[in-house]
Amino acid sequence: MTKLILTLLMPLMLGLIPTPVDFQPAKGNSTVNRVVVRKPSRALRKATADLPDFSRKEAYRLRIRPRRAVIEAYTPEGVFRARKSLEQLQALGEVPCGVITDYPRFRHRGLMIDESRSFKGVDFLKKQMDAMALLKLNILHLHLDDSAGWRIESDAYPYLTEKTAWRVGQLYWDWEKNGYRFVSKDDPEAYGGCYSKEELRELVAYAAERYINIIPEIEMPGHSMEVTKAYPEVSCLLEDGTRVVGSWDVCPGSEETYKLFEAVISEVMEIFPYPYIHIGGDEAWMNMWSKCVNCRKRMEEEGYTDVHQLQGYLIRRIEAFVRSHGRQVIGWDEILETGVPQSAVIQSWRGVSGGIAANAAGHQVVMSPNSHVYIDYYQDLIRKEPPAFGELTSLRHVYSYEPVAPGMDESLVLGLQANLWCEWIPTCEHAEYMLWPRGFAIAETGWSPAALKEPEAFRTRALAMQDLFRSMGYNTFDLRTESNLARSGYRTFESYEAAGLKNPTGIE
Ligand code: ACM
Ligand code: ZN
Repeated sequence: MTKLILTLLMPLMLGLIPTPVDFQPAKGNSTVNRVVVRKPSRALRKATADLPDFSRKEAYRLRIRPRRAVIEAYTPEGVFRARKSLEQLQALGEVPCGVITDYPRFRHRGLMIDESRSFKGVDFLKKQMDAMALLKLNILHLHLDDSAGWRIESDAYPYLTEKTAWRVGQLYWDWEKNGYRFVSKDDPEAYGGCYSKEELRELVAYAAERYINIIPEIEMPGHSMEVTKAYPEVSCLLEDGTRVVGSWDVCPGSEETYKLFEAVISEVMEIFPYPYIHIGGDEAWMNMWSKCVNCRKRMEEEGYTDVHQLQGYLIRRIEAFVRSHGRQVIGWDEILETGVPQSAVIQSWRGVSGGIAANAAGHQVVMSPNSHVYIDYYQDLIRKEPPAFGELTSLRHVYSYEPVAPGMDESLVLGLQANLWCEWIPTCEHAEYMLWPRGFAIAETGWSPAALKEPEAFRTRALAMQDLFRSMGYNTFDLRTESNLARSGYRTFESYEAAGLKNPTGIE
């Protein structure tokens, strides 16, 4: 029995993040002078016989011998994953001889980066993709537009970037204090930027070389102050003939709105090959719609009695447009409430309930609940950390997240994703600090078998990985300075004390 448990726990001894499915050790360490790639052996076929296609595609077997390593995989992607395991072992220290057999639990292992509230640029994204590849994270979701700035050039609608990609105030809250002012690129106070199509193609190619898929998000109908400023014709029209320029929501009553988003999404689909296009859909205020001539007309034509139905109308129309181009939409969980076809993927962010409801209704889901994987939230005590949102979402808390809630159909759970909103994050260095090491936990939950997850062993591996990241020039949060409270996974002083623990400051 003890021997069996030890065998099952062997993968944890390797120090890899994510932990591989299986490791059978052999005697000694390897110098790995040579790497050989072979077709899948009977052993790999047997180990992967029952896996779904997405998992088999990334599966590999890595035999480490005293002088060479032999990789078996079904696809170049599987070979790449094996190479990254080997690279990690070499970077972390000794490479033990033995056989690793490995494949992912989920197909979507992602990070979202908010480019609107602060603009990061090509070099930053490439650097984070290098880290993602090392950890077998495979989805980079880019939030490319929001009220604080539009970040992707459009030929059809050039004012989107010309008028709203530069602003006064690098920190989002300073921009708010300054009265939400956008300025021209040449203004001495200008902060911001945007991606050219060429740069985005370069990023897509860089991602593809690392088996990372980029999901572009074009947000609507809320979070759209910049769109209604750049193109007032997509804002609501009041009875006295005035436009609500700079309003939070675009106008779902106006045909101009569909013209703009369909043109932009067409340009986006030319750049990004991944089948999924994110269309936002969260936090629409809908406060102008009942006052708008065009919205009222649309409601009358459609027989609607409630403005919420207008959000459903807009989302369904854009979803149909995206689907007619052979792509699939992803939307934040609000889109479930106003009616959307089953082909839409629902991304749960207001906790897990949206994801559970969507799953029960037969939708594929991506789980990114703010209760667990919002990494713009504090990762340690408020008084120790730079200002952030929310509660304490420590490494241990992120790691504790299980994406498949009881009763959910796992085959419809595409995976999980951490979201890095950037209202409090004005620089690339700060963004990196929030991404790592919590991104390690996303990598492990997304790839490794749930049965192999153990928080203390993970922390030991995360410490070594953090040191490796720091030696590679990443500005990580330092786990060595983490308070007891955060380390224990408690979210508040109250919960810490309620568990009978002393020292409510959490620092010894
Ligand atoms: C969100 O955090 N508003 C999706
Ligand atoms: Zn309107």
